[in-house]
Amino acid sequence: MPEPLFRTPKGTHDVLPEDHQYHTYIKKVVRHRCRQAGYTRIDPPMFEHKGVFERGIGEHTDIVEKELFTVTGKRPSANSEQAPSEDREAREYALRPEFPAGICRAYIEHGMQQLPQPVELYSIGQCFRYDRPQKGRYRQFHQFDLEVIGLRDPSLDAQLIHVLTKILSDLRILDRLTLQMNNIGTAENRKAYMEALKDFFIGKERQLPEDDQRRLKINPLRLLDSKEEDTRILIKNAPKLEQFLDDESKTYHETLLEYLQELGVTSVPNPSLVRGLDYYCQTVFEFWDSSTGAQNAVGGGGRYDGLIELLGGKPTPGVGFAGGMERMIWHMKEAGVQAPNKDQVDVFVAQLGPEAKKQCLPLVSQLRDLGVHTLGALGEASLKSQMRLADKFESRYTLLLGKMEVKENTIILRDMKAGKQKQMAFKDAVPEVIKLLGKENLDTYVLRDHVGEE
Ligand code: HAM
Repeated sequence: MPEPLFRTPKGTHDVLPEDHQYHTYIKKVVRHRCRQAGYTRIDPPMFEHKGVFERGIGEHTDIVEKELFTVTGKRPSANSEQAPSEDREAREYALRPEFPAGICRAYIEHGMQQLPQPVELYSIGQCFRYDRPQKGRYRQFHQFDLEVIGLRDPSLDAQLIHVLTKILSDLRILDRLTLQMNNIGTAENRKAYMEALKDFFIGKERQLPEDDQRRLKINPLRLLDSKEEDTRILIKNAPKLEQFLDDESKTYHETLLEYLQELGVTSVPNPSLVRGLDYYCQTVFEFWDSSTGAQNAVGGGGRYDGLIELLGGKPTPGVGFAGGMERMIWHMKEAGVQAPNKDQVDVFVAQLGPEAKKQCLPLVSQLRDLGVHTLGALGEASLKSQMRLADKFESRYTLLLGKMEVKENTIILRDMKAGKQKQMAFKDAVPEVIKLLGKENLDTYVLRDHVGEE
């Protein structure tokens, strides 16, 4: 094959039909479990004013500092001072690196505090982070996201986590993962702790790698989940966040763990788990690959009681989670989970001669309308090569209409797997195909309204 002129940009990939089966299945499971639990769908735009993310996620987080994709929108006018305000504004957009900041902006903008609380929302879609691409880390990736906004109670955190375990269990990957849990206390608790950490590192700064020296100045909490060996050794003797938690935070966490136990959800305490976004308080959690024990999370989340206020709303608590769909698909494949193939070709219609082709066109159309995935009546190829095509498409049945059959008003129905065929009256072909496939397996979105939904 010649070298293609263009390839996908670094860190992005085409979602090819075979992978779409997994995407479609995950979306279906998420929708199903979310609806059962009273969540309704929201899709914030793929880009927002940069400030939504800067304020929401935090200016000094990796996501905002290094990974934000800014969008220029329009080409700036020659004289930017005189550029229309919309033009100036357009230069301040960024592609969404995650969902909650946009969803909370929408909660405020649409006055959702007037609705019965909590407001439970979910979303599914692409996110963008300008990170260094590697296995499982892309510049464009897919997340599903669940948010519970408006009330603060450990039972809500527990219910959210329970829904997630249901989703992961439906995807048949829950047993490959461990739920890592921590409580990072209130903003005041963390402030006191960060001071203690800074004190601890006085005189030891030079032993830290450059990046972590910077973190120590800006957000020392991030040293806890540093991947650098030198930092990890030093941090072992540092004061622990746990010692700085107030009684309310401790009780909140204990109650949450009790509720999770009631729901049959097992978790592992992880005092180093702090998460990389500034908006979290109290509960934080991640689902990790249990085999490697590495920090290779398929999803993570936590409580963010200050986020809505940061974005200009009234103080409103919230808790949420996002799952990385590419990483989940990787696990499904590793576990040998086959996503149902919704693109299976049921019937291939082969024909020979102008009369047969004429009859085939409405036959194909009728089968499709009835919910049978049908291909055929394509070109002028011989019956033999059309049969080979039917084989390549892995069609379950083939309907054959040659010159002879047209004359006799019959048609041949061939079961491709069994290699058997029979001749029948032309008018009997459709009812016979439907009988063989089973009415319940037809792809009719009027009857089964979830099929094919985006
Ligand atoms: P996060 O931990 O940044 O949290 O991302 C959640 C999941 O998205 C990760 O565990 C991972 O599976 C996937 N993910 C993140 N970055 C990438 C990437 N570059 N390539 C592939 N997959 C990736 C959040 O995004 C929070 N907004 C979660 C949340 C929702 N908290 C409250 N509500």
